Amino acid sequence: MTLDTLDSDSIDLNNTATNYQISLRNISKVFPGNNNLLDKLTGKTKADFTAIEEIDLDIEHNTFVTIIGPSGCGKSTMLDIIAGLSTATTGTVTIDGQLVDKPGPDRGMVFQNYALMPWMTVKDNIGFAVKTVYPKMPVKQQRRIIKENIQLVGLTGAENKHPHELSGGMRQRVGIARALAINPQILLMDEPFGALDALTRGFLQDEIERIWEQQRKTAIMITHSIDEALLLSDRIVMMTKGPAATIAKVLEIPFPRPRDRTTVENHPDYLKLKQQMEDHLYRETRAVEASRIK
Ligand SMILES: Nc1ncnc2c1ncn2[C@@H]1O[C@H](COP(=O)(O)OP(=O)(O)OP(=O)(O)O)[C@@H](O)[C@H]1O
Ligand SMILES: [Mg+2]
Repeated sequence: MTLDTLDSDSIDLNNTATNYQISLRNISKVFPGNNNLLDKLTGKTKADFTAIEEIDLDIEHNTFVTIIGPSGCGKSTMLDIIAGLSTATTGTVTIDGQLVDKPGPDRGMVFQNYALMPWMTVKDNIGFAVKTVYPKMPVKQQRRIIKENIQLVGLTGAENKHPHELSGGMRQRVGIARALAINPQILLMDEPFGALDALTRGFLQDEIERIWEQQRKTAIMITHSIDEALLLSDRIVMMTKGPAATIAKVLEIPFPRPRDRTTVENHPDYLKLKQQMEDHLYRETRAVEASRIK
């Protein structure tokens, strides 16, 4: 892994202290090619594709980490491996020392495209997750958990609506409530606000900040928004462009909590951190474009 730009704002990824909840070691993902598939344009067969290569990352309990990097660099690939939805070609993910090889109730996932069941109401979408994870839980307790989480994301009154009757922002709230309702130790979010308009997005970012202050669950979120990352994160993982993407730098975000936009934007380090992220994203995205032109 190259850490050429490491500076005083960065953390030591090789620190071997034991307090880490999530540890990625030497994670690579190669999507296999296909010798039988001939590309008509190039006349070549489909080659193996290395999306991410030799990624090491440690995440402490109760921290909010965001992953940011150029489109297609492998952010979702990495999150899916942590979620246990995809397996790494090499390397290991451990959570509290246990090897991850499948999804588990310790990890709640919020998907970019909501992934709700269209024939189920808000209440039942959340309830289905709760029943699946806690099949022996008394119905009364299940109902209480469903109600509490609907309330937490501000959906009280919409319990009996179906996804098609909800706005994009409301659907995303159901996705967040569903992930929180199983009371996971870790919340994984893949661009949870990507499909939303700017106002709804800002509102939901504030909601996530508020909920996170209450629960302080370890969270890993993918975003393309620098301001979103700066508002929510304790650490920001900046990835290089793919193929064979890796971690360029991890920024420590020193803003005190609880946060709001004004306190974040007025912090003396805000502009410097924002500039560092902009420079990184600009450089990596320009490199992607340059490699396309070649
Ligand atoms: N199943 C697959 N087979 C082959 N290549 C894949 C597969 N899934 C992803 N890739 C490739 O791996 C790379 C990383 O994909 P990934 O979805 O992780 O990127 P990303 O950083 O999440 O991008 P975005 O910001 O656009 O969501 C991309 O080049 C993508 O084309
Ligand atoms: Mg993605």
